[in-house]
Amino acid sequence: MLAMAQAIDTMRSMNAVPSQPCAPPFTDAGRHALSPGLAHDDVARFNFLANFNKYMSGTVVGGNAVAYGTRAAAAWERQHGAKPRDRLEIRAAMSTDPYYRMWSSLRRCGMEMRQQAGRSLVLRQAETLRDRTRALNAGASTLQLDPAVSVPRYQSAIDNHCMPGSYFAEVFPEDVSAAANYDVGMFATTTGLFGRFLDGAGGGTAAWLRRRRPGWQPARILDLGCGLGHNAVPIARAFARSEVVAIDLAAPMLRYGHARARGMGITNLTFRQASAEAVPYPDASFDFIYTTMFLHETSYSALRNILREVDRLLAPGGLHVHLEQPPYRGMTEFEKFLRDWDCYYNNEPFWTTLHDTHLPTLIRQVGFANDTIFEAEIHAVVEDEMPKVAVEVEDYGRGGKWYAVGSERPPAAGGAGQA
Ligand SMILES: C[S@@+](CC[C@H](N)C(=O)[O-])C[C@H]1O[C@@H](n2cnc3c(N)ncnc32)[C@H](O)[C@@H]1O
Repeated sequence: MLAMAQAIDTMRSMNAVPSQPCAPPFTDAGRHALSPGLAHDDVARFNFLANFNKYMSGTVVGGNAVAYGTRAAAAWERQHGAKPRDRLEIRAAMSTDPYYRMWSSLRRCGMEMRQQAGRSLVLRQAETLRDRTRALNAGASTLQLDPAVSVPRYQSAIDNHCMPGSYFAEVFPEDVSAAANYDVGMFATTTGLFGRFLDGAGGGTAAWLRRRRPGWQPARILDLGCGLGHNAVPIARAFARSEVVAIDLAAPMLRYGHARARGMGITNLTFRQASAEAVPYPDASFDFIYTTMFLHETSYSALRNILREVDRLLAPGGLHVHLEQPPYRGMTEFEKFLRDWDCYYNNEPFWTTLHDTHLPTLIRQVGFANDTIFEAEIHAVVEDEMPKVAVEVEDYGRGGKWYAVGSERPPAAGGAGQA
């Protein structure tokens, strides 16, 4: 009872609760050849989840700072003789606070509910989805699966962001339900900010690249850790004369992604099963290499290997860029503590390490010259009717804006390269 009273007390003392527009209805999510049929209750569940997520990230999250400032920091100080010094001590101080516990468990429940809503929807249509995928993929040389590719432990040991079986689960041969679940639930989590087809990061990257290199037409493009190609499709569209290769470890994601892209009329995009740590292409094969929301799901040693591969594969005159949540450097310890939530409670074990890593230094260490390395911010490009980047609300990965880091390789002597 005391804990509940304290949590309610915190809510009351929060400053004016900002009013927020509703999330776009789930029926506005983009439909494509593999979209599962939706029953009334499926739509109702996702509409609830989208608005629940919005309320959590726009309003409820704010109570954590109030709880810390009015209760948890002082309680820690009484016990230890000093205020919490860093994010680990803040976490220890907050882990017994009723408000933080309430917010944390609601956030975790929201993710588990998304997975349950998605799985229950796609599993009952799994055979239909398999058949549609099979038909769309039939005879295509642009889907290249390799059963010899092994899944490293940093992927096989984790149900990434609470997805049962993660990206790899196959209930029966050629099953694509893992990918379909990832696809169908993400609109509710991102509340429209990634666009109707969840392709805002790819669209944003294409727009950014056009500003940085007006008129540039990279001949060959590589997307590492492409998932089901949410952000490979807009790149393939934006650079329709380029040959785009999208690499991933997970066969269900690639099968589904290839069929989805084909259903959208995309023909310059190859989906290939391979590890980004050992990409099966010769040196200097690609002019533009990018990753979107991928590096934080790899171990630290894999991260180094992947960047070494980028160095090997990038052609003279080429450019590579990686979109992630912003690094922790320069943030308050309290903000770092809040952002660490995903690492502890959302099955994102490499989240903290990635955001503590100085990526420009790592990029320099794998071989890129210091003066070619850049950092930038890239915003999602979405349809007019979808909500735009939430500048005032940062939902730690779902807000539609990203930190971008990368570098450029000088053209070869004699001017080849940047065409
Ligand atoms: C967050 S998801 C997809 C992100 C995708 N780039 C997007 O924007 O939608 C991360 C993906 O990385 C893949 N992955 C993880 N480790 C990998 C590796 N070593 N090589 C290739 N893909 C990997 C997973 O299978 C998963 O599909």
